Amino acid sequence: MSVDTPIWQALESRAAVCRQTLNLSQALSSPDRFEHLSLQAPHVLLDCSKSLWDEAVLKDLLQLAKQAGVAQRRDALYAGTVVNETEQRPALHVRLRAPLATQISSPVEEECHTGLHAMLTMAQQVREQARFTDVVHIGIGGSGLGPELVLQALHPWCAGGPRVHVVSNMDGHDLHQALQGLVPERTLFIVASKSWSTAETQRNMASAKAWMCAAGNLHWPDHFVAVSSREDIARQNGFTQTLHIPEGIGGRFSIWSAVGLPVALAVGPEVFKRLLAGAAQMDAHFAQEPLERNAPVWLGLLDVWYGSFLQMPGRCVAPYHHGLRRLPAYLQQLEMESNGKQVRANGQPVGCLTTGMVWGEPGSNGQHAFFQWLHQGTQCIPVEFIAARTAGHDLPEHHEVLLANALAQAQALMQGAKAGEGQLAGHQDFPGNRPSTFMLLDALTPESLGALLALHEHRVFVAGVVWGINSFDQWGVELGKTLARDLRERMSSENLSGLDASTAGLLEYCIR
Ligand code: F6P
Repeated sequence: MSVDTPIWQALESRAAVCRQTLNLSQALSSPDRFEHLSLQAPHVLLDCSKSLWDEAVLKDLLQLAKQAGVAQRRDALYAGTVVNETEQRPALHVRLRAPLATQISSPVEEECHTGLHAMLTMAQQVREQARFTDVVHIGIGGSGLGPELVLQALHPWCAGGPRVHVVSNMDGHDLHQALQGLVPERTLFIVASKSWSTAETQRNMASAKAWMCAAGNLHWPDHFVAVSSREDIARQNGFTQTLHIPEGIGGRFSIWSAVGLPVALAVGPEVFKRLLAGAAQMDAHFAQEPLERNAPVWLGLLDVWYGSFLQMPGRCVAPYHHGLRRLPAYLQQLEMESNGKQVRANGQPVGCLTTGMVWGEPGSNGQHAFFQWLHQGTQCIPVEFIAARTAGHDLPEHHEVLLANALAQAQALMQGAKAGEGQLAGHQDFPGNRPSTFMLLDALTPESLGALLALHEHRVFVAGVVWGINSFDQWGVELGKTLARDLRERMSSENLSGLDASTAGLLEYCIR
């Protein structure tokens, strides 16, 4: 949306008023506020009543969404039309969640479902054969973060399958540690790389192959599965077991595809289907609920409100669930790679601030680290709390304390406090009026996890549509890759000519 439109200007005025007059503590003395600014989406109770907005702001933001064409773009996304203009691709992750029994009506759907079916069948066979005790999944970014997060979150469902280790970093410590104690005969490697050209994954794959071959008389291809859009290259390089990622599945949206193989191996295909089913429920909510009561729409609009209008530099993600400890890292890629951009899909400047930093740590660890900054620092950013009403363990006292802490942190940020008599004025003052959102799951299950991840995918999409950004490309990662290749060559040739003084100085220090 252009920042020159009347609706954008109206929201600028609302932001000025909001900054000066909106007092969350006062606003929340009315019970209506919770009723009007919270909603129940599939598996997620979303409370935005502690957000720095009100119903008038929401109304204008909804107008903004309508004028930006959010509903039409969503329909285009779901229809599988090209929404990633710079790469001339559709974004097909929603298709992967359509029930597997669905009548296949297009080649696109067939490609998605065939790849997924093949993955689930392979997972079932490997589990039944019980030949492998350990699986090492090699992949980075979208090919690593999703499996890592979901494996941790679904830990209670990991039964009857191999142990799974995820290796991403090109730092050899990562692979080295994963291989400790593993027996080559009983180890399966998955190499997941959509492009089949990512330096980290190629490096780790080469070392994994060397490790397998060093074991002697093993036929390495029996111990490797390639998951890629470029299965052709993998096959040319000797892989005999391959799974397909459709071109239209972006890396950060790929956990639902064959990239989910390590998860399906650990939890079994039936549990994996429950993850897909939960995401499909959120897809239906996004498609069918009016924008006025639509969770991804609210969250996407809040992101635009905080970033572009209130100019907040980011958002803190605080999952109060051990199973979601990698959620901040997962969302970092999802949001910052999707909307961390300064131009619209047409290449013209956006003209306003877009996505800020997304960062965080699981609660309650963060409380003993950076929450000081959130409560009393000079900058204010929203915090997103994610918790589950019931626990997946039998230590009820732990869970009650955990929930009380999550709620208390949101309350403290909102209400603040003035130092009392005998206290250190200033030091023990809390400014308050610091916003948060709260996502409450009934429990962390395959279904609720699927719904939670789909909720975030769609919020990112909504914000991207309002900003006019193509949320599905990532050109900003390319320059560093090109320069790294150049520097790698210079390390061998020891040619430092033409480099800036700093890079030359550091490189010289590295190679001498
Ligand atoms: O460099 C960024 C990126 O392309 C991400 O978008 C992607 O998820 C990651 O690298 C891994 O890419 P691949 O699956 O092609 O190895």
